Amino acid sequence: MKEFNLNTLVRKNILTLQPYISFRDNNEFSAPVLLDANECPFGEYNRYPDSTQKNLKNKLAELKRVSPSQIALGNGSDELIDLIIKIFCEPKKDAILIMNPSFAMYAFYAAVNENEVVKLNLDENFDIVKDDFLKITQERDIKIFFLCSPNNPTGNSVQDIEFFVQNFDGIVVIDEAYIEFSGNKSGIELLNKYPNLIVLQTFSKAWGTAGARVGAAYASEEIIRFINTVKAPYNVNSISQKLILKLLDDKDKLKENVGSILQERAWLEAEFKNIECIVKIFPTDANFFLIKMKNVDEAYNRMLEAEILTSKRAPAIPDCIRINVGSREENEKLINVLKGIAL
Ligand SMILES: Cc1ncc(COP(=O)(O)O)c(C=O)c1O
Repeated sequence: MKEFNLNTLVRKNILTLQPYISFRDNNEFSAPVLLDANECPFGEYNRYPDSTQKNLKNKLAELKRVSPSQIALGNGSDELIDLIIKIFCEPKKDAILIMNPSFAMYAFYAAVNENEVVKLNLDENFDIVKDDFLKITQERDIKIFFLCSPNNPTGNSVQDIEFFVQNFDGIVVIDEAYIEFSGNKSGIELLNKYPNLIVLQTFSKAWGTAGARVGAAYASEEIIRFINTVKAPYNVNSISQKLILKLLDDKDKLKENVGSILQERAWLEAEFKNIECIVKIFPTDANFFLIKMKNVDEAYNRMLEAEILTSKRAPAIPDCIRINVGSREENEKLINVLKGIAL
C-alpha cells in the first residue's frame, strides 16, 4: 500500500462539506422546552430522533470494543454502502471493485452515482484469485474494494483478508453482514492497523431485526466523520434506535438466534444430501445455501407454486438457487416440496 492519505481519496466537495448539526443533540440539557424543530407537542413519537444516535453508539462501542467515534449508523448497511460510494467516488470518473458474484447493492449504488464497476471474477470455488486481484488493482485506479465475507450469494468466507487490505491503495470495505454465522474474527480487530479499512455489519441477519433497518460502519474516526457528515441527519428513526438498544441489553438473543440457525443449517444440509434434484451444495458460513440443481427453472417454479420463495441465481451462477435457512417448520415444507421433484 502507498502511504495512506485519506484526504486524497475523499471527493473534494465532501472534504469541505459542513455537516448538519442539531443543536439539541449536541448539547446537554436537563429539562428543555423543545420549540426549535417545528414538531407537534403531542404524541409518543412526536420528536425527531437523536441525530447522533449517542446511546446506541455508546452501547455498541462497548460491545465491539471501539470508540463511539469509530461508529456510523445507517438505515440498514445498504444506506452505508451508498454513503461510502458517495464520499469517495466522483460521479462519471471513479470506479469500485467488487467480487463477482457478490451482493448486488454495491453495483446498484455505483450505478446510481454513475461510477464504473470493475468485477473481480471468483474461481470455481468462489474464492478470490490473488494474482487476478493484484493485476486488476495495479492496472486500474480504483477507489473502493467491496470485500464481502461471508459472501452473498456464495456463502463462503474470503481467506487471508488482510492481504487484500494491505495490497489496495484505496478504501477496503469488508461487508460482514453474515459474520455471526461464520465463527470468523471480525475485521474490526484490524481497524487500528489499517486506516483504509471500513467494516460493515448489520442487525438484519443474525440479530433478527431486518424490519428496523439498522446497520453499522466501523472505521477510523476520520472516515466516520465523513459518513456522519453526508448522512441524512435523522437516518435512523427513534423506534429503531430504541428497539436496538433494548436488543443489545438482551445478551442471549444473538446467541440464541445463531445457535438455532446453525442447528437448522446442519439439518437442512443433511436433508439436501438426500434430494435427487440437488447436484451440489456449496460450503456455507452464512444463514443460506447456494445449491446447484438439475433443472433449476423447473425446481424454482415448483417451489414457487408451493409459495416457497427462493432466490434464483441462474443464469448469472448457472443452475444455482440461494435458499436461506428458515424455521424448522419452513425447512420441512421446503424439503417436502424438493423431495417431490423428480427431474
Ligand atoms: C452482503 C450484504 N450486505 C449488506 C446487506 C444489507 O443489509 P441491511 O439490511 O443492513 O441493509 C445484505 C442484505 O442482504 C447483504 O447480503
